[in-house]
Amino acid sequence: MKKVYIETYGCQMNVADTEVVFSILGKAGYGRTEDIAQADVIMANTCSVRDNAEQRIWGRIEQFNFQRRKRPGVVTGILGCMAERLGEALLESGKVDIVAGPDAYRNLPELIGAAAQGHPQINVLLSREETYGDIAPVRLDRSGVSAFISIMRGCNNVCSYCVVPYTRGAERSRDWRTIVREACDCAARGYKEITLLGQNVDSYRFEDHDFARLLGVVAEAVPALRIRFSTSNPQDISDAVLETMAAHGNICRHIHLPVQSGSDRILEKMRRRYTRAWYLQRVEKIRTVMPDCAISTDVIAGFCSETEEDHRDTLRLFEQVGFDAAFMFQYSERPGTLAAKKYPDDVPQAVKTRRLEEIIAVQNRLSLESNRRDAGKTFRVLVEGPSKRNPAELCGRNSQNKMCVWPDTAHKAGDFVDVVVCDCTQATLLCKIAGS
Ligand code: SAH
Ligand code: SF4
Ligand code: F3S
Repeated sequence: MKKVYIETYGCQMNVADTEVVFSILGKAGYGRTEDIAQADVIMANTCSVRDNAEQRIWGRIEQFNFQRRKRPGVVTGILGCMAERLGEALLESGKVDIVAGPDAYRNLPELIGAAAQGHPQINVLLSREETYGDIAPVRLDRSGVSAFISIMRGCNNVCSYCVVPYTRGAERSRDWRTIVREACDCAARGYKEITLLGQNVDSYRFEDHDFARLLGVVAEAVPALRIRFSTSNPQDISDAVLETMAAHGNICRHIHLPVQSGSDRILEKMRRRYTRAWYLQRVEKIRTVMPDCAISTDVIAGFCSETEEDHRDTLRLFEQVGFDAAFMFQYSERPGTLAAKKYPDDVPQAVKTRRLEEIIAVQNRLSLESNRRDAGKTFRVLVEGPSKRNPAELCGRNSQNKMCVWPDTAHKAGDFVDVVVCDCTQATLLCKIAGS
């Protein structure tokens, strides 16, 4: 049996896609390996969102090519967003045999077969319909606790900095019935948590099911499972979604709500369709409906024409909201995007770096303050496994998505445990078992 090795980069949607790819290849008779030296087919599922993500893949391509030259017959491939963006240019490097975009995975058995005969293959056609809705993914999370479920593909938003609409194509929602079926299947296999994935989950729609309704239907179909979702767009997150969350104890109290910038002038240039005031009003609403809901965000430092004042608006917004967590990036110009065509990438590198560092410093303090507010609280935590630092401790996340660690040798991955917060660091709640 030929064996396939896949490295996965980028967002959670790529992790879910790799699971779909293994399912498709499994049906076609391919096995799986985690040892590159044993693999007949070596692939990377790639990300294009920032330049450094792509640079890293070029480094991996060199490694793959090394295996390919050492062991004749080995086939190498690039999947995902970078395959879609660079297409032929990847084949022309002479270092890869297969280039397959995110909507071409059903075609992979044929592509691999032809490439093994010495004919390089490319399929970067984007689809308006493909959702892989009928494919049961091969779950790769080894602890068997948490599973990703894609509910939609693509994105119609065209934020000016973002390459995703070009690499993933138009937005399409998956039939809600196949989503519910997959959730039930996860429950039957012993999973304890599912995360519903889309670039903009609030624009989910299939027949008469919008995202709020889908969320409610899934929460009721698998009452013993925890449900998370990502990503919510501040423009589209509806009161109905918040009310559905509040009405279901098994939907986690955490919303990832990327703000990108605190300056209205920059938000407009980014083509985000909300203002700072709108964002703050959404945060208020979330906290009114669910006072215990954590809010995290994404932010970009140094977007085209960003001034010190714009940057200070971002820092002030962070203070005002008091985010529980954040993913923070420097702007990276992506070829083909509206921003690349319209606006010069004119914030000097050193300034981008300094602004990013300032945002990180503020967020580090906010994370610590957020964790300190949890002192003495009791949380139900889903055990992920032993903590990295101490084998006598377990770790897992609470509903708010905060990492907890506590001394415990009695429980195992997949158990729910009630813990009390005794202390914290900026990244972790240090706990003990409730009642102990
Ligand atoms: N669909 C999600 C974001 C997906 S990309 C949303 O709309 O929120 C994940 C994050 O990468 C974005 O939120 C943004 O903060 C960051 N990002 C996207 N393009 C970028 C670029 N060109 N440079 C730097 N960061 C970028
Ligand atoms: Fe990119 Fe905007 Fe779509 Fe998110 S919503 S994937 S940032 S275009
Ligand atoms: Fe990257 Fe593609 Fe996800 S660009 S962030 S892997 S959608």
